[in-house]
Amino acid sequence: MLRFLRRFRQPPHPIPAGRPPSPAAARNGNGAAATRSSKPSTRPAISEQGIFYLNATLSVLQRERVRLATRQVVHGRPARGARFLEIPIYLDREMVRSLSMQHALKDSTLRAIRAVAGVDAVNAWQQRNAIVYQYQLAHQFWKFYKRTDLPSPDGIGLGVGRSLVPFQLNNRHTLVAGETRSGKSVTIESILFAIMQSHRPDEVGLVLIDPNQTFGIRKDGLSAGEVGRFTNAAHLLRPVAHSYEQIDDAINYVYGEWKRRTRNGIQDAPGIVLVIDELMSEAVIGDRESGSHHAEHLEKLTQLASQGIKNNIFLVVGAQDPRVSNTSGLFMRNLGLRFIGQVTDGAASRALAGQSGVNAHLLTGNGDFVRVGKGNGDQHTRFQVAEPTRADFNRLERRPVRATPVAPAEIINPPPPEPDEVDATLLFPDDEEAPEADEVEVCVDALTLAIYFHEKQLSVRQARARYGIVRRAHQEVRQFARDLEAEVKSLRAGNPPNSPYYQKLLQERDE
Ligand SMILES: Nc1ncnc2c1ncn2[C@@H]1O[C@H](COP(=O)(O)OP(=O)(O)O)[C@@H](O)[C@H]1O
Ligand SMILES: [Mg+2]
Repeated sequence: MLRFLRRFRQPPHPIPAGRPPSPAAARNGNGAAATRSSKPSTRPAISEQGIFYLNATLSVLQRERVRLATRQVVHGRPARGARFLEIPIYLDREMVRSLSMQHALKDSTLRAIRAVAGVDAVNAWQQRNAIVYQYQLAHQFWKFYKRTDLPSPDGIGLGVGRSLVPFQLNNRHTLVAGETRSGKSVTIESILFAIMQSHRPDEVGLVLIDPNQTFGIRKDGLSAGEVGRFTNAAHLLRPVAHSYEQIDDAINYVYGEWKRRTRNGIQDAPGIVLVIDELMSEAVIGDRESGSHHAEHLEKLTQLASQGIKNNIFLVVGAQDPRVSNTSGLFMRNLGLRFIGQVTDGAASRALAGQSGVNAHLLTGNGDFVRVGKGNGDQHTRFQVAEPTRADFNRLERRPVRATPVAPAEIINPPPPEPDEVDATLLFPDDEEAPEADEVEVCVDALTLAIYFHEKQLSVRQARARYGIVRRAHQEVRQFARDLEAEVKSLRAGNPPNSPYYQKLLQERDE
């Protein structure tokens, strides 16, 4: 590593002002940057920026004693995102998941890199044995994409190197979350176009709920302008729902259809996508605390979320800050594909992404999103949402849509409400609004237990920082690990079983 750093010793080049970086930088990487840095005048601006950022990062990492890969190649290709430059830095393989890796990712390291690199924000993600650093570019270099920039109609945006981020209806429901102005409604619009442009109306029907009537509206400062409407789009199964009555009908319509399909074992009917912008608004499920909560809407939506897909019924839900506590654990857990825009802080990012390390509070807003999949090996992707324009709306296939009456749908086989909440705080560790810690029963799972066998001295703080384990779980699992270890020792020594769990078991048996 030292040998490598020596090659980077020369002072960093200043960032050239006013010259937009070009994607040419994406062709540059794997240590080649060091050689090139000796002839700055002949290279495109962005590679110089890349070298500068790389230098800044390596110097900070060295100070933090992060052990980098010992082989020749320490960093990967710099790549251009719409609003950031990304460079992977490889760690020593043995360091992955160690304290050294945590140092490479922690807030203070990112802040130090940000200061040395002179950028507004630095984000970092782990990808296998690399840490991918993202350096926010100055505003004048940002790119905005329209749907016509997409190479394929099923796309919704472009990631680094203009790679397509597709949206497909497969086996997951979708959550689009982020604070106001993060670009949720525009993202949902782009998803709607992706669905309509890759399926015929007889293949997929749409039910839209838009309580704030924001679809097709663009805001610039205080002024708002309309670029189009989904009214009468050929894919709509019903008119777009705005009022409480229309929303109630829309939910009952989809729920009734699901009941029909599930009772008759219909699994190959045309797809239905129920799209809800602003789930928490008063007319949809409302707020538990304000007394305007529509429990029956939430219950139906939860059932659709947990059981709809096998009957080809999909949810696309937009909400600013949905939590387990104001929806339900079962509902949140079933939104397996998540698009997270800018949020207020790290805790909100963790709660909405359902995992740590996304850092959505470091995004820039207005269409800067991270796609978070929950499947194994599903990497995060930061991308810029391609905005639908007036031309996209004008090209929409239209036909009259009638508001057919909907019978109120009785809820069938409601799922058992309780066990679903059990692991809520474990799944969303920083959700301050999650059920009170002592209301939650902690389940000791093998993976968490293994952590405590491996790291016997783990403190509450470390447990949270490294593994996202909350205090209550920390205490219980640590105690469990200790008791278990003591019991094994005692049994080995030939003593009879004596652990508190065994005692409890005996007691329960007696009762
Ligand atoms: N992908 C995007 N590209 C360009 N501008 C965007 C994009 N997404 C959002 N914006 C801008 O940000 C504004 C707010 O977006 P919107 O989707 O209404 O946010 P939210 O629903 O999260 O409050 C839009 O009116 C538009 O001006
Ligand atoms: Mg909105």
